[in-house]
Amino acid sequence: MRSRMAWAIFVLVLVLIGVALMRFNLTALHEPGPAETRLANLSKRYFIHRASRHGIPPRPQDTKASIERGGSHYGLDCGVCHADDGRAQRPLGQWMYPRASDLTSKQVQSYSDQELFWIIQNGIRFTGMPAFGNVETSDHVWDLVNYLRTLPGDSQKGDSTN
Ligand code: HEC
Repeated sequence: MRSRMAWAIFVLVLVLIGVALMRFNLTALHEPGPAETRLANLSKRYFIHRASRHGIPPRPQDTKASIERGGSHYGLDCGVCHADDGRAQRPLGQWMYPRASDLTSKQVQSYSDQELFWIIQNGIRFTGMPAFGNVETSDHVWDLVNYLRTLPGDSQKGDSTN
């Protein structure tokens, strides 16, 4: 009796997964539903947190000079998707899904410096966020992190842990 129940539940779960997959669609035209967005964001934050705990090189000593360098790299590397003010109101960033993030938002500014470093160096798989580890040195990636902290936004949560 018990094993019959277990089979019935198993088949029901399979049917539900099948129905969900049939409705699933890869379009980037519309925002996906809240459940998909939440699940994607939760797993992204978990993987970024886990990966950034080790192996991040030390930051440059002179923060002021670093921010200045970061500003010029930002204009060349990031502005095309995230816009010059970081708010991502650019057609390219708005047409992809996930949309290019608003770098001034609380959600992005609440990453630690190490997490931001990891994101810029490694990119985010399955999204339009490129990995800059092959084209920028570690110092330049730190320059970008320092610059991101200066973008005018609602939240300016600095994180100077290292
Ligand atoms: C080709 C477009 C593109 C370029 C160029 C680009 N990004 Fe992104 N970026 C994205 C997209 C799309 C996302 C959203 C990824 C997501 O939601 O998971 C993103 C996300 C991010 C995030 C936040 C991740 C999050 O969880 O929301 C940071 C930080 C970031 N980018 C920084 C940068 C920096 C710094 C540069 C330049 C060195 C840059 N990006 C260049 C497309 C781009």
